[in-house]
Amino acid sequence: MTKTDHTDKASTASPNFEIEYFDALIVGAGGAGMRAALQLVEDGHSIAMVSKVFPTRSHTVAAQGGINAALGNVTPDKWQWHMYDTIKGSDYLGDQEAIEFLCQEASEIVRELEHFGVPFSRLENGKIYQRAFGGQSQNYGEAQAHRTCAAADRTGHAILHSLYQQNIRLGTTLFDEYYALDLLNTEHGEIGGLLVMNIHDGAYKILQSPHILLATGGAGQVFRNNTNASINTGDGLGMVLRAGLPLQDMEFWQFHPTGVAGKGMLISEAVRGEGGKLVNSLGEAFMARYAPHVKDLASRDVVARAIALEVKAGRGCGKNKDYVLLDIRHIPEKVIAERLPGIRDISQTFLGIDPAKEPIHVFPTCHYMMGGIPTNLEGQVITQPPNGSPSIVKGLYAIGECACVSVHGANRLGGNSLLDIVVFGRRSAKFINIQLNKEKQQDIYNYKQLTLNTETVQKRIQRWQETEINQTITDDSVIQIKKDLQAIMEVGCGVFRDPESMQTALEALTKIQQRLETVCIRDQSHIFNLERMAAYELENLLAISWATLTSALARKESRGAHSRIDFTERDDQAWLKHSLYFQTEHRLDYKAVNLAPKHHEPLVPKPRVY
Ligand code: FUM
Repeated sequence: MTKTDHTDKASTASPNFEIEYFDALIVGAGGAGMRAALQLVEDGHSIAMVSKVFPTRSHTVAAQGGINAALGNVTPDKWQWHMYDTIKGSDYLGDQEAIEFLCQEASEIVRELEHFGVPFSRLENGKIYQRAFGGQSQNYGEAQAHRTCAAADRTGHAILHSLYQQNIRLGTTLFDEYYALDLLNTEHGEIGGLLVMNIHDGAYKILQSPHILLATGGAGQVFRNNTNASINTGDGLGMVLRAGLPLQDMEFWQFHPTGVAGKGMLISEAVRGEGGKLVNSLGEAFMARYAPHVKDLASRDVVARAIALEVKAGRGCGKNKDYVLLDIRHIPEKVIAERLPGIRDISQTFLGIDPAKEPIHVFPTCHYMMGGIPTNLEGQVITQPPNGSPSIVKGLYAIGECACVSVHGANRLGGNSLLDIVVFGRRSAKFINIQLNKEKQQDIYNYKQLTLNTETVQKRIQRWQETEINQTITDDSVIQIKKDLQAIMEVGCGVFRDPESMQTALEALTKIQQRLETVCIRDQSHIFNLERMAAYELENLLAISWATLTSALARKESRGAHSRIDFTERDDQAWLKHSLYFQTEHRLDYKAVNLAPKHHEPLVPKPRVY
């Protein structure tokens, strides 16, 4: 709840809702939102951070392996090598100026995190421990680097809790357990507010601000097997689509090679970084076939495909031959206890095995969304009118997994996600600070006088409030529709993609849409509102599924995590470009990749071998 009173109940702007005013709003309280909030509060602005869960339950908490920075504590390292690896990892779709900035900032921001209190694991000399992760190299591909700074295998947990504590220290205003429904336009057509629902009592409220920063995380719940928290339903992406704005590169979803087989929970890449080996039913360490130089530490898309191919070739394990083994029995118990305690817990809880004694059963699982809301380096949201060029959406920003800046291109490297959230969380907040200072100085700070249009969102609210009154109750439920959607996406748009399955999945979305339009929600108690929230979330998941399948069907090449069986090669001539998907008529457009870093020479696309 708010600590200061920003409320204006008597406002005539939107009489149906209580309104509160802030200099800036941050939607989402994971690592990106928290880092941005910290900056803006420190800079003296009134901000509110909205989160649908208690902040330390945000999905950043689940990040395991670590955060990349070329500290060089274990092997020699340079930010330029990190930049090269990230661009190669992205299969050259990443924007090189953004990647350069990410890698240049990394060492300093990791030190900042250390000073915020993040309890990084240590080397004997007291320096931050760094482990090897996939796709990392020294000297532009020569030898394996150790670049991932780790707090055992609970790095996200350590970072999120430290950032939360810093926000508590500064007294950041938090709206915990408020669900953000939609962006609201001012009378001039600019974005100027947000409608939120208090999950406890179902009351709606408007938060009005000239600067709205989306940090709502990913949408891995689109797929049945995933490593994501159940809250990862792409709420920011849904809001952006409904506001008529595009999503970028939505065909690119990362399938983490090592999820708990059949269940999906993350078994960190740290396991392979510490020496774990993938093995098939014949006992072969099969990665030598797919990545002869770096083997188990190839880029994630390469390893995920290798596992899927081993299983397809009948070399999977278990009675259904549908998983492979991740073997760490040769790693000393002391190392497992110190570096991989969380993995041991997960294996014991979900597979009933102790990985020190038995190999872990693994199969690829949806982990990360490379696409998202298009932004520039300041986090300003970008749109593109039909036949026009990219332009900035005033007052709207996005950072972290919900954004596509794009530092991950067609495939993200492990350890770059925690880096992305803090680097761009800080940069975007610093930019908003400059804007706010200008606006305050120039006395053009009159956003409280603006009227917000709530007509569209009122209809959306009514849809989920009056379903039992107006509609025939059927056996269908929001939860069942969500499960069916996830199954459709898993079959239609997984590690390997074929045009028939994608087309079938796309057609199945129409049926899902119809069911969603007629389903009733049962919990009208106005106490927990969880089924109502699930309905709002499902609308977002469905919108994201349309974006994914439409973009994936159109991209007739294989690049990074988008691997088509009918177009098996990368085609730079035709497809070295970002896709932009608009909800209206499922329109697709394209935008150039930024191949012009500021301090490093451009990296020209090359065949990608590991
Ligand atoms: O495997 C992992 O620990 C995941 C790390 C990441 O996605 O960056």
